[in-house]
Amino acid sequence: MITKYYDWKKAINQEELGQCANIIKKDGIIVFPTETVYGIAANAFSKEAVEKIYIAKGRPQDNPLIVHIADKSQLKDICIVENEIQQKLINAFMPGPFTLILKKKHVIPSIVSAGLDTIGVRMPSNKIANSFIKESGVPIAAPSANVSGKPSGTLVEDIKNELDGKVDAIIDGGISDIGLESTVVKVIDGIPEILRPGKITVDDIIRVVGKAKVNDKVFAKVEKTEAVESPGMKYKHYAPNTKCILVDILDDDEKIKKINELASKEKACVIGFSEHKEKIKCDKFVPICNKDDLEQYSKRIYTELRKVDLYDIDVVLIEGVSKEGLGLAIMNRLIRTCAYNIIN
Ligand code: TXA
Ligand code: MG
Repeated sequence: MITKYYDWKKAINQEELGQCANIIKKDGIIVFPTETVYGIAANAFSKEAVEKIYIAKGRPQDNPLIVHIADKSQLKDICIVENEIQQKLINAFMPGPFTLILKKKHVIPSIVSAGLDTIGVRMPSNKIANSFIKESGVPIAAPSANVSGKPSGTLVEDIKNELDGKVDAIIDGGISDIGLESTVVKVIDGIPEILRPGKITVDDIIRVVGKAKVNDKVFAKVEKTEAVESPGMKYKHYAPNTKCILVDILDDDEKIKKINELASKEKACVIGFSEHKEKIKCDKFVPICNKDDLEQYSKRIYTELRKVDLYDIDVVLIEGVSKEGLGLAIMNRLIRTCAYNIIN
């Protein structure tokens, strides 16, 4: 298949927007930007279209997709809001980097939910995403834009390498604002539970409904055969081919000492804080951001992880962050990037 490219970094091209909507109406699939990461879009009402996403990504069939909407009025077409807590979460966090698990209506084919009776629903705030979904005229099923197991796509240059020829079109909206996937929440026994942490934090949710918790499995090693609230928790994720180790030692000097020791034994690359440039003894040091700038860490981590396979190295050493605020989401991704290879 020949992939069409649309460059909307400066502005949305109205004629091309019409072409995109036509592709979706004809069961094609399109990479599109959102404020979290890029997604691969298909008409959520079409089994044939959604099947193409699983093939393009090489995604396990039991991992459900998120359904994206452009307007809250679309909720009633696809799902049932069952209680006031869900309604408050919708009011507070849509549009935004937030996915709510809700009871699915039958019009959504079971391939979208991987056989579950629920679906994840998200309303992106990104302008291009919103116009594209609106113009398509249907809810859009979309996983992150990457081959299954790899870091999510946040930059079209990276996505092109992986998905060129496998999708009908790619819309370029520049680098993703947030860089990590949405917070996934399910209300269980009256308590909002975070199944995948993201930019919307547990404190943000508590401010709105007075309570919230983080699912036990968010930091646990999950076996493929285990029953979990969110199937995505089971799979290898966000990982380059090169071995990665997460160095998560609280004391900075201790941490740097450990990194230097590991870097002296193997050909290494270090992804770390700019402030540590002088102290870290490694030929390949990638300054990800300043120590306090978690927004920048989140924005850049996937594109830096994609580069490491191109370096002549045997191991990637990654400086951990505190699990406060956005740090919880960053660490949730990094432990998987490192296949639970953590030094602490
Ligand atoms: O920011 C995002 O969420 C991006 C953009 C494109 O919207 N999408 C994304 O999709 O990250 P994906 O498919 O890579 O991750 C969806 C996650 C998976 O962990 C999946 O298991 C979980 O959401 N999920 C989807 N439907 C679910 C359901 N009904 N119950 C529990 N978890 C669900
Ligand atoms: Mg994904």
